[in-house]
Amino acid sequence: MSGITRIGRRTVLIGLATSVGAPAILRAQSLFTQNPFLLGIASGDPAPDGFVIWTRLAPKPLELHSGMPMVTATVTYEVAEDENFNTIVANGETQALPELGHSVHVEITGLKPARPYWYRFIAGRERSATGRARTMPHPGSGLDRVRFVAAGCQNYENGFYAAYRGIAGEELDFLWHYGDYIYEGQTKAGIRQHVGEEPYSLDDYRLRYAQYKMDADLQAAHAAHSWWVTWDDHETDNNWAGDRGQDGTPPAIFNLRRQAAAQAYYENMPLRATSFPHGPSIQIYRQAKYGDLLDAHFLDTRQYRMDQPCGDGFKPACAAALTRDRSILGAVEEKWLFEGLAKSPSRWKLIANQVMIMPLDRRTGNEPAPIWNMDSWAGYSANRTRLLNHIQKKKVKNVIVTTGDEHQNYAAELRGPKGDALGIEFVATSISTGGNGSDMRPGNDRIMANNPHLKFTNDQRGYILCEARREAWTTELKVLDRVDTPEGALSVRRKFTVPAGESKLS
Ligand SMILES: [Fe+2]
Repeated sequence: MSGITRIGRRTVLIGLATSVGAPAILRAQSLFTQNPFLLGIASGDPAPDGFVIWTRLAPKPLELHSGMPMVTATVTYEVAEDENFNTIVANGETQALPELGHSVHVEITGLKPARPYWYRFIAGRERSATGRARTMPHPGSGLDRVRFVAAGCQNYENGFYAAYRGIAGEELDFLWHYGDYIYEGQTKAGIRQHVGEEPYSLDDYRLRYAQYKMDADLQAAHAAHSWWVTWDDHETDNNWAGDRGQDGTPPAIFNLRRQAAAQAYYENMPLRATSFPHGPSIQIYRQAKYGDLLDAHFLDTRQYRMDQPCGDGFKPACAAALTRDRSILGAVEEKWLFEGLAKSPSRWKLIANQVMIMPLDRRTGNEPAPIWNMDSWAGYSANRTRLLNHIQKKKVKNVIVTTGDEHQNYAAELRGPKGDALGIEFVATSISTGGNGSDMRPGNDRIMANNPHLKFTNDQRGYILCEARREAWTTELKVLDRVDTPEGALSVRRKFTVPAGESKLS
């Protein structure tokens, strides 16, 4: 039985139609007999004058339609300059539509730059938790520092989200999520169990997001920071590539699944209307300029890539991996990235990227030929060469790449064809995917020996904390001792400094 008082569609529609001028709180108060904000709140895609605020009404998150009747519900929002909402600077009403899983995305404008705000939602007699969002500084304005966390890969079945509890306590300008917010697969023997089978339909994906979003630590990290979200493969299907799934499904049919996954992603993320889904597509790659210090390029390396070569997997390169036309970005995103890098006046250029860019020979034994991950840029090496050549030719300085996907920490120099360092890549581990892990995965000593540009590896869960300052970039790798309990303890495993003007790790 739903937790919602059963009232007919007609009653609600009449109520909405005749309530012009009446306080919003009166209109919806009969809708809920329990809290509809069980999936939390979020803010994202900040601008100098605002940000998106998000919630999704779900009084019974794991039931069909999350326990909502299939009618439109009115939601009130408030944005204030203080935590106690004494000075409200924006408020209004928005509609939570059944077509969008009763999610709401409100684009707040008219705020001051580079400061925190607090926001909350009201539906009926119920009020959400309070979230804190942060506007961006103006592009080009002088800044002393920009701090952000890179996080992602949060397989619910593999462990708890103590890392997000740590993130909630960080002082940040933003969080960038590199994808794998949900996992579509099943382990059947996890530390926590997915509800339902592998998702294919919109309601399947909605259920999966609902289960993840009920996690209190994840909600705390959303409530504490404004996020820039990007996706990787598991929001849709493992190792998908453009219109290709991993199981050889005909592209036209796989696109139907993509469409369901894309809509569910939009519904559950604090995205702007510019990222509204069109069929199977969402505009995910975008740029953010933090003063004169940091230009961030958030990539989408799934939607426009060619299929993985050589049958995918970890293996020696076949001829198909080495052709000149290989593209992981697609022509339009590649052009956008290259222009963004060449034209950036900022001190640091961030490429916020999903899968590993550095060439990493993954041999751990006596294999005769290098082993590459065909799902990473190694399967698209001509695209990597074009990127590094562009950085060199245009003399783009202070390039930092942050990456997800690997479920391990890596720090490496990105080197050009003559061995000169052109940038630094920090691969962030995972929030939970892979389970507890250990400091050194068996075989990583061989990988370190085979890859002299690689300076560090670690196989524990956590996140990376990056800080851009005028004179140097620092990245702290924060790791958890364990994720098989909610009480995992965080510590700084390693801190790297990159001096401005030098692509070197120390
Ligand atoms: Fe992942």
